[in-house]
Amino acid sequence: MRIGILMGGRSLERDVSLRTGRRVSRALSELGHEVVEFDVDESLVPKLKKTPLDLVYIALHGKFGEDGTIQELLEILDIPYTGPGVYSSTIGFDKALSKQIFLRNGIPTPPFFVLSEATFQEMGAVAALSVAGQKLGFPLVVKPVAQGSALGVRIVKEEEELPEAVRSALHYDDRVLLEKFVEGTEVAVSILGNRDLVALPVVEIAPHGGFFDFDSRYTLGATDYYCPARLPEDTSRRVVEAAIKAHRCLECQNLSRVDIIVDHAGTPQVLELNISPGMTESSLLPLAAEAAGMDFKQLVGRLVELALEKYS
Ligand SMILES: Nc1ncnc2c1ncn2[C@@H]1O[C@H](COP(=O)(O)OP(=O)(O)O)[C@@H](O)[C@H]1O
Ligand SMILES: [Mg+2]
Repeated sequence: MRIGILMGGRSLERDVSLRTGRRVSRALSELGHEVVEFDVDESLVPKLKKTPLDLVYIALHGKFGEDGTIQELLEILDIPYTGPGVYSSTIGFDKALSKQIFLRNGIPTPPFFVLSEATFQEMGAVAALSVAGQKLGFPLVVKPVAQGSALGVRIVKEEEELPEAVRSALHYDDRVLLEKFVEGTEVAVSILGNRDLVALPVVEIAPHGGFFDFDSRYTLGATDYYCPARLPEDTSRRVVEAAIKAHRCLECQNLSRVDIIVDHAGTPQVLELNISPGMTESSLLPLAAEAAGMDFKQLVGRLVELALEKYS
């Protein structure tokens, strides 16, 4: 097959996307496909219109790659693509919307408030911050509503740090999420499938320096991973159930990776769902696949199969 691969682009996660993209590109070639690489810029759509492709592999992360934008363009151009569609992408990239949907479907997610930049500029919302902080309790987590790779995410220990953390998150998006800090075990569950779903073994994430920030993710040795996670069997089962439920209620196809913190009561608190999880050497999905006996090439092959199945 002739497979186009979209990577890079102008998102803040450009470098991670290039690493994902090059690795996937190599695997696709080894699987015998003809690969055409596209580093996303303003020439993309004209190029796509000129290049006959059987499938596009989306190796983009972050804005435009994960938020439904590129998916919508590919729908317009009638080009089949990997991963979830427009609906799941639009909601999955929006942590505020996702969390509302999780709650309505009985999926536990940490308590939260969302404020937009406009409420600060036009309504003096800064005066509401201390109230929000008291309601959620400290420490709490401040993050941009729509961003990835932990960019703009801060753990705020006391009220005085709150305005600055909010300002910083607003550099990444025009809405900010204040979320209750959950103490416990951080895990990620990758789900593969369209109708029949397979959950890959749960990956436990143990960053050396506190939380799973950008450097803990992409610096070799900065985080310990355990796969399968060191959780009691029934807790693991509940984690997988929560992830599958999240995948289903966002109507994902092909794949997703659900980020969860298991609190001290053993409840899986779902943080977010990723529709284009990283595929770098240190990423969670390939690690989970490996634990399930699927090497990187087989994983990429499976994602291609699942994408084609979606269109058949
Ligand atoms: N409510 C929370 N309690 C504790 N840690 C959190 C919480 N939310 C996020 N984190 C930490 O911040 C990281 C990034 O948060 P996440 O919501 O997954 O956003 P991103 O899209 O940037 O991955 C998580 O991997 C976790 O380490
Ligand atoms: Mg995450």
